[in-house]
Amino acid sequence: MTRHFLRDDDLTPAEQSAVLDLAARMKADRFAHTPLAGPRAVAVLFDKQSLRTRISFDVGIAELGGHPLVVDTQVTHFGRGEALSDAGRVLSRYVAAIVLRTHGDDRIAEVAAGASVPVVNALTDGFHPCQLLADLLTVRERCGGTVGRTLTYVGDAANNMAHSYLLAGVTAGMHVRIAGPDGFQPAAEVVARAEEIAVDTGGSAQVFTDPVAAVRDADVVATDTWTSMGQESDGLDRITPFLPYQVNKTLLGHAAPEAIVLHCLPAHRGEEITDEVLDGPQSAVFDQAENRLHAQKALLAFLLAG
Ligand code: CP
Ligand code: NVA
Repeated sequence: MTRHFLRDDDLTPAEQSAVLDLAARMKADRFAHTPLAGPRAVAVLFDKQSLRTRISFDVGIAELGGHPLVVDTQVTHFGRGEALSDAGRVLSRYVAAIVLRTHGDDRIAEVAAGASVPVVNALTDGFHPCQLLADLLTVRERCGGTVGRTLTYVGDAANNMAHSYLLAGVTAGMHVRIAGPDGFQPAAEVVARAEEIAVDTGGSAQVFTDPVAAVRDADVVATDTWTSMGQESDGLDRITPFLPYQVNKTLLGHAAPEAIVLHCLPAHRGEEITDEVLDGPQSAVFDQAENRLHAQKALLAFLLAG
């Protein structure tokens, strides 16, 4: 049975923990693991823009001894009617894994339906699970572990990052609080799934509208852009309702004194986060960005071993 990583809950708590353990080992000895030696190729496909994901997969696959094929899908037949399941089926004849950043989750599910090699979600409208592996690795490093820690995400609580914090956070045994304005709340299905996972891990999932109540005594404060890729002209006011959710010194003052700050980047400085916080002593944002590399290498090694 081919293992895919389309959502954060495609890894069990034990599997997620094993991937994070491996990521830490790979980080400590960066060029010692070459499961893609051959070199075996990995296709990394983008329907949307990227800096970190694109470069970290390219570098990571090379470091694993493999051959990265990074492709913008405008130069393929993706946009002109080729069935995505056929694309998954064809690519499986060439490569050891397929990594895809795309729009709807139905699109990556269709690729996976045709694929006989692992398919990895490199961001969809619904989830950003590779980012969360990096975030959890960062929490482990900075907070000494994830179990029992409180992580608060404030901002657009309906976006991919909010959904991934819910699923991946509770999988790691965290207490996850998601805060956003009315109209920008997480999907009920995702909250319900997080609550279900939390029963087994001892974590919890809570949705707030009050940013101060959500941040109170948190160990980790996270945010993301108020306008995700593809939402630039959705006609919604993506500034005014979010202003109380800006991660600034005042809001961060309600968190635990040693709380760390996460942001997946790219940041809109002065909107969802201030320069003072992003560049300040509590920011773990650049370690978080580096950890994309180590976490994704470990994920690929795990999926290909399986
Ligand atoms: N955080 C993240 O996924 O960044 P990119 O969009 O630059 O890949
Ligand atoms: N929510 C953002 C994350 C970018 C890495 C987006 O989807 O654009």
